Parts: sequence; structure tokens; C-alpha cells
Amino acid sequence: MKLSITLIFSLFFFFGSMAQSGTPKDYLSKEFHKERRDALRANMPANSVAVFFANPVRNRANDVDYVYHQDPNFYYLTGYKEPHAVLVIFSESQNVSEGKPYNEKLYVQQRNAQAEQWTGRRLGVEGAKTELGFDQAYNGSDFKNSGIDFASFDKVMYEDFRDDYRDTRNTADLYDLIQSFKTQIQYDNSFTITNTTNDVEVDSDSKVETVTVKKDTRTLSRLMAGLREVKTEEELLLLKKAVRISAMGQREIMKAMHPGMSETEVQGVHEFIYKTYGSEYEGYPSIVGAGNNGCVLHYIENTKMKVENDLVLMDLGAEYHGYTADVTRTIPANGKFTKEQKAIYDIVYKAQEAGIKATVIGNTMQSPDTAARKVVYQGLIDLGIAKNTTEARQYFPHGTSHHIGLDVHDPGTYGQLQANMVITVEPGIYIPIGSDCDPKWHGIAVRIEDDILITENGPVNLSAEAPRTASEIEKLMKEKSVLNRLELPSLD
Ligand code: GLY
Ligand code: MN
Ligand code: MN
Repeated sequence: MKLSITLIFSLFFFFGSMAQSGTPKDYLSKEFHKERRDALRANMPANSVAVFFANPVRNRANDVDYVYHQDPNFYYLTGYKEPHAVLVIFSESQNVSEGKPYNEKLYVQQRNAQAEQWTGRRLGVEGAKTELGFDQAYNGSDFKNSGIDFASFDKVMYEDFRDDYRDTRNTADLYDLIQSFKTQIQYDNSFTITNTTNDVEVDSDSKVETVTVKKDTRTLSRLMAGLREVKTEEELLLLKKAVRISAMGQREIMKAMHPGMSETEVQGVHEFIYKTYGSEYEGYPSIVGAGNNGCVLHYIENTKMKVENDLVLMDLGAEYHGYTADVTRTIPANGKFTKEQKAIYDIVYKAQEAGIKATVIGNTMQSPDTAARKVVYQGLIDLGIAKNTTEARQYFPHGTSHHIGLDVHDPGTYGQLQANMVITVEPGIYIPIGSDCDPKWHGIAVRIEDDILITENGPVNLSAEAPRTASEIEKLMKEKSVLNRLELPSLD
């Protein structure tokens, strides 16, 4: 048996209309990133400076690194996708008396023909100017002589360093950039601002007379969360696309699913659909858990060789140009919910409906959780699975909502819901084998997760194209899938 040419063509035809041709043009614009920097600057304290570093390159094994992923704040503010870079944003214009004023500087990887032959084109200083719109762009090696007098600012804001970066032969890698930043801010004897109310505490070994730089590792995260939690129209285009692609993955697997599939294969179907629609990555490791495996909230092994007649919990999200969806469906592998599976499923569905109804402007980020939790607890008590809410809580051990965006768990201030926020509503019930209830419930795990846009006119379910009710799911599972005709040669 072999993969038929006809099938390849039909798959190509089937998805081809949605696929991109050439290089995608729908990235965030340089104007978007500039506008976001201006928005941050407007919220920065007077006479302050904010410093951002690119994400580290992470090693996978020997000379192979993980696929590089830019730090989301860095990407949001610059559009720069390469490692080994620093962004400096000043609250006010600098150098006003001496020359051309500036209020930001970007230090990037130097161009290098030999390196680029191996790992691809670098933007370099010129690219940072023309493609990203930075007037003040420099090579990373210039950062150690940046000329920035950090001691002259009332606050030097940055996010605390993670310690997972490596010193390489590159003399302007992230390690060197951070080292030279530490030198420039007199890292070892600076004031440390420990909270956001401007209390200042002197490091124990500091001498007040010699301390000059006031560093603040708290405020910046809060300022960035305040910006990123409300999406602009440009962001919403990408985020909606990521969510729709993910919903299409759920639809296709509903048609293709059968008890002989492995968890890995189920994962592969989703990810194949994502790529066919032009999504570059998954926004987080894909979760496909059959039966009891679904009770592990972030189960990513996906190694069960046959999903059999179990419920299959599938929590996956396509990442499109940096923006990630987060969508979960739970479906019966054989196309029909058992009585017990449906009883649990219907509670989670009703809880999600209540949660979605609560995603309205003026409510708090907590509101969907409160609404959903009430339904789950009552449902579990009514079925005799729990005697009271304390017992019920163990079967719904996670929160109901988080922001999505450049991160699957996007930063936010977790206060009031506002228009153009996009949050998940994802109640679940998980009854692991061995739970203190009738064994007929054991091994049932259900999560339903949708991505909800908050608007003046109420919640909009961006992932609604993936069926949610038990009957809609059973109906779609009866449809034929082109993927069922995919027959590969046996390797035995
Ligand atoms: N996929 C992780 C979550 O739902 O939060
Ligand atoms: Mn999820
Ligand atoms: Mn989620």
C-alpha cells in the first residue's frame, strides 16, 4: 500500500485555497511596534529608562538548538525575531541639546555572511532601520560603550535576568550584553526598588554614598501586562486567524478520529492542519489524552498507541505569526458518548456556557470562573460524585480563564474585563482512576475551552467553528474525512 498521488492532490486541493502562496505579508507592521513603544513610553515614570533583552538561545543537544522563539515583550515592541539583542526605551527625549534627539535604541546581531549561510539572513543595523523603523540601531558590540548614563535616571527598569543563557564565542551574545548592562548599571551596588509603590531599599552590602543607579525589576512587567491585555485591531486579525486554524484542526480530527488511532497521530492531524493553513508553530506543547490520560492537565507525552473507546481530550493551539490560540475539545473516539461520559460532558458544557455569559465588560477576570465553578460543583453533587463543594473542588482543580496573545498565558492585570481582551473559558471535570466515587466515573476527563473576544456587544466565541455540544460533535464525527484515506506502507 502507498500514499496515493490522487490523495496528495486532493489534500492539496482541499486545503490549498486557504494556504498562503509566496511569503506571508500579514505580519504586524513596523508602525504597530512603534505605536506600542510610544504607548509604553507614555506610561513610564518620569526620567526613567526601560531595558529589554531578547530571549536566550536554548540548546537541545550538542550543536543543535531549540527553534528560536523571541521574548514576547521584545517582539511586541520591536518586531525583531533574532536573538542577542537589547532594546532601550527612554521616557523622554535624550541628547536634546547636543544633536538629534532620540528616545529609543536597538542593539542587534551583527551581519555575518558565514553565519548567515548556516542559520539564515540577519536584519543587521540597516535592516533594523529600514524594516523595523529604528533611527537608532546599532550592533550588539556597541552596547558596552552605549554612552547611556544609567545613573542619571530616577528608575532603570528591566525584568529580572533568567539564568539560562550561555556565553558563546560570539562576543556580543546575550551573555555579553547582560554582563555589560550589569557593568553599566553598577549591578552589585545599585538601589533595588522592591515594589511598585516606590519604596526604596538599599542592598545590604551597599554604601549609600556610592550608590547611584536605581534599578526596578517589578514595574516593567506590570506596564507591559497593562498594554498587552487589550488587543489592537492588527493583533486581533492574527489572533483570530490562529484561533480559526485551531478550530479547523478540531473539526478535521472529529471526522478522522477512530479507536485505532494513537494519541500521537491525533496530535499529528491537528498540527498538519495548522501547517496547511500557514501556521508556523504550536503555541504550546500539544495535549492529547485518551481516557485517564486526560486527567493530567498538561499531559504532553501523547504516547498511548490506541485511543480505543475512550474520551479523547485535545488541548491544542496554532501559533500564527506569533499569536497563539488555546482550544480544547473532548470527543468520544468511537463517535458516541456513553451515558456516563455524556453526563459529565453536559455539566462541563453548561458550566462553559455560564462562564462565557459572564465574559462581559465590567465583570472581573474572576467572573467566568465563579459562574462555571458553581455549575460544575452542583452537577457533581447531583450525580453523587461529590457530597459537597469541598469534595467537588478536587475534580475541577484549575482556573477557568486566562488571556491569550503572543503567549498562551498572556500577561494581564487580572482586573476588570475590557473590550478587545481575548480570554479563554475552559472549565473541566477530571475523575482519575481510584477517585472516591462510583468506579463507573473513573477515567473520565472532560475540558471544553474556547477563546472569547470581549466586545461592547457581549462575548464573541472566536473558536465557535469547532462543534461544542455533544450532539453536534456526534453529528460531525459521522462525516467522512479525507484523512481516513491516508494509507501508508507498513514498516513491519
Ligand atoms: N493549554 C493550556 C491551558 O489551557 O491553559
Ligand atoms: Mn488549553
Ligand atoms: Mn487555556
